[in-house]
Amino acid sequence: MSEQKQTLGEFIIKNQSSFQYSSGELSSLLNSIRLAAKIVNHEVNKAGLVDIIGAAGDTNIQGEDQQKLDVYANDKFIQTLTKRNIVCGIASEEEDDFISINSQDKNHQNKYVVLIDPLDGSSNIDVNVSVGTIFSIYRRVTPVGTPVQLEDFLQKGSEQVAAGYVVYGTSTMLVYTTGHGVNGFTLNPAIGSFYLSHPNMEFPEDGNIYSVNEGNYIHFPQGIKNYIKYCQEEEGDRPYTSRYIGSLVSDFHRNMIKGGIYLYPQSSKNPNGKLRLLYECNPMAFLAEQANGKSSDGFTRTLDVEPTELHQRVPFICGSKNMVEKAEEFMRNAQ
Ligand code: AHG
Ligand code: MN
Ligand code: MN
Repeated sequence: MSEQKQTLGEFIIKNQSSFQYSSGELSSLLNSIRLAAKIVNHEVNKAGLVDIIGAAGDTNIQGEDQQKLDVYANDKFIQTLTKRNIVCGIASEEEDDFISINSQDKNHQNKYVVLIDPLDGSSNIDVNVSVGTIFSIYRRVTPVGTPVQLEDFLQKGSEQVAAGYVVYGTSTMLVYTTGHGVNGFTLNPAIGSFYLSHPNMEFPEDGNIYSVNEGNYIHFPQGIKNYIKYCQEEEGDRPYTSRYIGSLVSDFHRNMIKGGIYLYPQSSKNPNGKLRLLYECNPMAFLAEQANGKSSDGFTRTLDVEPTELHQRVPFICGSKNMVEKAEEFMRNAQ
């Protein structure tokens, strides 16, 4: 069978031996994410047909309106991972606190914790624009067989064992890394299988797309303002093209394929930016680095940030290496 026709299930099994601690547990975990992704995909695609869109009438811990599909996706990912008894803990952007699994059972041997943004870009659901799911996987640091603790989740991004996203777009794709490059799989909806369609994905070193919510321009730090002006200048391959979907997953996915930079900086409105370190920035930074890209807050590598709380936010600059380095140069020069 050619590489192109490999299913995600086959790929996971074939690559199991390259995991550092190969016991099959991480394979089962990736397989259950694959299953949850298919279930959520089915529901996302029905969103325009049934009365499921619209606010659920609840707000999450960060004070944002929860959409019904946020709740649905959150429940499905948590159920799939919990029922199959695959992980020892889950933290989700949509949950106030982390969930401990089998905390009373001293015999349970599960080693992994999962952090998820179950539905990313949820404000785009009502208008039929792509949304996604982001996941991040770590080995626990507290002893196996004891209830998970906050410290199991507050690990630096560089400790991630695997990370990935699902983009529910014109086609549905699952893209992930276990630290050996990035591979993308496209769902064939007729058969219900993901096929390896994008092996060894890499950011071009340079690009000509910049993605930022320019509506916040006047609130940005001077270094970011200067960088945006640089992107708009007429010189060489500039001006760059501005593309901003408002779904991190989709903006990242396009930039990785075409070459580009994504910026969600700090601002006078949001002093730490908006995106969450554990559910959004770290998994995307891990993918970016594995795909020859780069990620930082303008000064510090995202994966080196020491987390202090579950729902922590950080400024986020991520994408093609040379573009991120240029933005960092503007940040330094504006100090
Ligand atoms: P979520 O839907 O999980 O809350 O994430 C939304 C995030 C991210 O996907 C997107 O890039 C960003 O928020 C958009 O924010 P603005 O609307 O402030 O530009
Ligand atoms: Mn998100
Ligand atoms: Mn979300």
